[in-house]
Amino acid sequence: MDTTSPETAARNDTVAVTGGSGFVGGHLVSALAGQGRRVVVVDLDEPSPELAALPGVSYRRADLRDYGETLLALRGVDTVFHLAGNASGTRSVQYPRFDFQINGLGTCHVGNACVEMGVRRLVYMSSAIVYGTPQRFPIDEEHPTRPFLPYGASKFSGELTLRSLHEAVDLSVVMGRCFVIYGPGEDPRTAGGEVSQFMRWQLNDLPIPVVGDIDRKTRDFVHVSDVCAALIAMAENGTPGEAYNIGSGTETSMRQLADAVATATGRPARLKADTSQMEDSFRLVADISKLRGIGYRPAVTLAQGLESLAGALGPFPELPTATVAFRREAVEQT
Ligand SMILES: NC(=O)c1ccc[n+]([C@@H]2O[C@H](COP(=O)([O-])OP(=O)(O)OC[C@H]3O[C@@H](n4cnc5c(N)ncnc54)[C@H](O)[C@@H]3O)[C@@H](O)[C@H]2O)c1
Repeated sequence: MDTTSPETAARNDTVAVTGGSGFVGGHLVSALAGQGRRVVVVDLDEPSPELAALPGVSYRRADLRDYGETLLALRGVDTVFHLAGNASGTRSVQYPRFDFQINGLGTCHVGNACVEMGVRRLVYMSSAIVYGTPQRFPIDEEHPTRPFLPYGASKFSGELTLRSLHEAVDLSVVMGRCFVIYGPGEDPRTAGGEVSQFMRWQLNDLPIPVVGDIDRKTRDFVHVSDVCAALIAMAENGTPGEAYNIGSGTETSMRQLADAVATATGRPARLKADTSQMEDSFRLVADISKLRGIGYRPAVTLAQGLESLAGALGPFPELPTATVAFRREAVEQT
């Protein structure tokens, strides 16, 4: 006889996605709903009508900078995927205190609430930005952590707080250090990733501005659906207290990206040097062996991802306005 109470059964089935109204969170909510899970979107903003209409999806508005609101939002859930935060390095340079309030303090609130509410599992979306300037290739999880942006410092402080809660009170947390994510649904006003930016210039038939050395500068681009698969694998099989790189494991130079964008759109790409921004010509590629060890396999090649992105954006999409890199400017008051 099944002695599970209806309340416990509902709890076992329910996951919360903080930041579920955002770019990556929205894709994760769809993926989890597609698995038949009950999904609570916890966000300052309402999810899109399409997302809200999916079976099993509900919305709890919360500002994670407020502990009381965080506690209420996470009540009765089995697993929390914590993706809410400031995802813009540029914004963190302009407003470091704002960045820390959500990425640092907000993450502490989420960890504290998970402990208080007895949440079974917490998956934290960190970033490869915690490594700082890469010192070796590929980057494994043992690479030194020396963030050079307030964004990197705030994401890393989130990791340190959650890991300390794991050590001190057994919080079952796993952390994903994500490389450069791309896919449909990025906001062109804030998304700094080169894939979406290159594609938007190209689809408008305009020259693509390239920051840094076109051959020496490399990045690890990972499709958002692979990121969702990685986060779900970490929730199911990750070792508590551990961090996992989330990437494709493939190194792509800016020239290779431009060539792939040209192929996906069926016309040559014109490039122009953008010298207005801080040089960032380092190589960046993830060692994803640890994630592979828990069953993750990247499934979307760059060519496939670009082709579907071109279709999703359509002709003449909004041009990107977010900066890719960072000038040293005066910090604004908030
Ligand atoms: N996009 C990338 O390439 C990338 C790479 C590495 C890591 N990440 C991390 O992934 C996560 C999601 O990134 P994204 O690109 O989807 O960002 P996004 O800006 O699209 O989504 C972030 C969401 O968090 C919500 N949010 C912000 N402040 C909040 C608050 N105080 N309370 C409640 N909700 C709040 C926003 O409303 C938004 O819906 C972030 O934690 C980011 O640091 C992103």
